[in-house]
Amino acid sequence: MNNQRRADGSLQHLITLEGLARAELEALLARSQHYVRPLGARPPTSRALEGLTVGNLFTEPSTRTRVSFELAARRLGAEVVNIEVQLSSRMKGETMLDTIRTLESLHFDAFVIRDSEAGVVAHVAANVAPHVSVFSAGEAHLSHPTQGLLDALTVRQHKGERFERLCVAIVGDLRNSRVARSGYEVFTGLGVGELRMVAPPWLMPPEGVFPQGRRFESLEEGVRDADVVMMLRIQKERMSQADIPDGDEYFARYGLDAARLALAKPDAIVMHPQPMNRGIEIASDVADGPQSVIRDQVRNGVAVRMAVLELVARPRPVRP
Ligand code: CP
Repeated sequence: MNNQRRADGSLQHLITLEGLARAELEALLARSQHYVRPLGARPPTSRALEGLTVGNLFTEPSTRTRVSFELAARRLGAEVVNIEVQLSSRMKGETMLDTIRTLESLHFDAFVIRDSEAGVVAHVAANVAPHVSVFSAGEAHLSHPTQGLLDALTVRQHKGERFERLCVAIVGDLRNSRVARSGYEVFTGLGVGELRMVAPPWLMPPEGVFPQGRRFESLEEGVRDADVVMMLRIQKERMSQADIPDGDEYFARYGLDAARLALAKPDAIVMHPQPMNRGIEIASDVADGPQSVIRDQVRNGVAVRMAVLELVARPRPVRP
């Protein structure tokens, strides 16, 4: 368990959703909702992080998480620097910690880190100065806490706050998915009625992972009468060549098409964290169809990251 709290129990970092109390999750979702605006409206701003400098360090590709963390920090009044890892001295062999210490010397107050290696984010968090906060933007296959929160916010907007009434099916590459793990933590943390973990046998993680989830190897059985169908991306970058499925074969058995979606409740919502492999895990007409809330998930990403940054990173007192 990562130690992400200060001595007073407040969050100094956000590395995982594991261990967050239901009340903490609900408060974060309520604050996130405060920052949601309809498309076309002026986005909300505040000066909550004025005077802080936030560094984005992404060693894996990202569109949504990187851009929305940047927008969130700017809209809260922080200065933001995107560190181009490929152009940094990391390429000359500098360690992540030496890079972080250099940036601390340049008055950085918070780091948003995505890394393919498990443990890197927690290692940085354990070694920063007490006034510095570290945010996971996705860690290996283990954790993507702000994605979990934005997924829960999207469900809350469409299905209400009573998660105990809901059946949520998370479908696809469960073995390699940090989105599935953070989804599991947030939905169980919020007391979801039934959480189904649906995957082909070779993409199902070992027993003991997702202990409160009901496992299904049949997509049809897994989505039947569900309120929420959350599809996952096939994570080719985390598979050996031999494990990468043929796209057509995978779609034939595990792709969400209109006929399979019709097995879920008539008002079920369809989610996907993106990027999507259209025609492999999800049909285009479903991804773009009336039950899809995929674009809401993206919009909610900025609101959630504003709430998280505001809660965790604390402005410093002005010193002469
Ligand atoms: N969902 C998600 O993490 O997307 P990006 O990889 O584009 O950040």
